[in-house]
Amino acid sequence: MGPPNRQIVLETLPEGRLSPANFRVEETERPKPREGEVLLRVLYITLDASNRAWMQGPTYRAALKPGEVMYGRALAEVVESRAEGLAPGDLVFAESGWREWAVMPGRLAQKRPRTPPLTHLLSVYGISGLTAYHGLLDLGRPDPGDAVVVSAAGGAVGTLAGQIAKLKGCRVVGVAGGAEKCEWLVRELGYDVAIDRRTGGLRAALREACPHGINVYFDNTGGEIFEGALFNMANHGRIVCCGGVSGYDGLGGEPGPRGVPGLIVTKRLTLSGFIVTDFAQRREPALAELRGWVESGRLKVVEDVSEGLAGLPAALVGLLAGDNRGKRIVKVA
Ligand SMILES: NC(=O)c1ccc[n+]([C@@H]2O[C@H](COP(=O)([O-])OP(=O)(O)OC[C@H]3O[C@@H](n4cnc5c(N)ncnc54)[C@H](OP(=O)(O)O)[C@@H]3O)[C@@H](O)[C@H]2O)c1
Repeated sequence: MGPPNRQIVLETLPEGRLSPANFRVEETERPKPREGEVLLRVLYITLDASNRAWMQGPTYRAALKPGEVMYGRALAEVVESRAEGLAPGDLVFAESGWREWAVMPGRLAQKRPRTPPLTHLLSVYGISGLTAYHGLLDLGRPDPGDAVVVSAAGGAVGTLAGQIAKLKGCRVVGVAGGAEKCEWLVRELGYDVAIDRRTGGLRAALREACPHGINVYFDNTGGEIFEGALFNMANHGRIVCCGGVSGYDGLGGEPGPRGVPGLIVTKRLTLSGFIVTDFAQRREPALAELRGWVESGRLKVVEDVSEGLAGLPAALVGLLAGDNRGKRIVKVA
């Protein structure tokens, strides 16, 4: 047997909430690249709320099936290359899956600059940052003084969307789980108000926080937060449908929302769904603007990094329970 490779298999599909027991660690042999392929050593795996949505059925990608190595995206280093344009030592972003070593066609590995800290390539300069940027600015289009509400406000996308709205001169209200997280959003990230989604009375709390109505709602959750925002939208408000994490981990998601389509009509609302890759053509200017804000200290990057491949299942379960602050990443090597 050649050198080993550990990987994490989704053993069973969750019937209710996801649990670490749905996964198992498997030891196999390190794969060898063929013509056109690269051997990658996985450095950091990004955990995203959508990892759980992939278990529910086909989305913008095929559904995960039991017995497959868990899908996942990573920053990795090229160790051996039989692909044009990639050499040992190159850093790449790739869909490696939850494993220590991966082989894939070189054309599927996207080269990244080795600018420290590398984790920023998965947070603010990765999918989370670009999702917050394009969702808020291209679809939400907030004006200075607008009331902007962000759900999952303390998460990877939410921490950035809320701060970008502040940079644009908006009044920003976050919705998150737990009093401590809400205090932190106001104290550390500059949210004007943060509402604890676990205490109930969400609709009234949003009304109090946005007495003139919500101009832009950046929706990461769907469910009752969506409904609470819908009832409090200002006329001509925009709802940016980024994701529906309240429905990812469980049996059937939350019911509702009520108010559809009546409130959309009477308030003349615009709802826009998007996938971040829709904006691929504008990636470079978006990254340049994000970099300017980060380097001038105007945009804080919150990362939540733990270590060890075996900890990935618990880290994903924790993300879905709201244990994370900012971008959750697992360092594998
Ligand atoms: N459209 C796109 O291209 C795109 C790209 C990337 C991500 N997304 C979406 O962006 C959203 C955020 O993803 P992320 O990866 O950045 O994850 P994240 O926000 O870092 O983590 C998920 C958060 O969801 C919250 N949550 C969990 N269960 C909830 C529930 N029942 N109701 C309300 N909130 C709940 C938790 O925070 P609290 O407990 O603090 O509420 C948790 O921290 C997801 O909907 C994801 O699908 C979309």
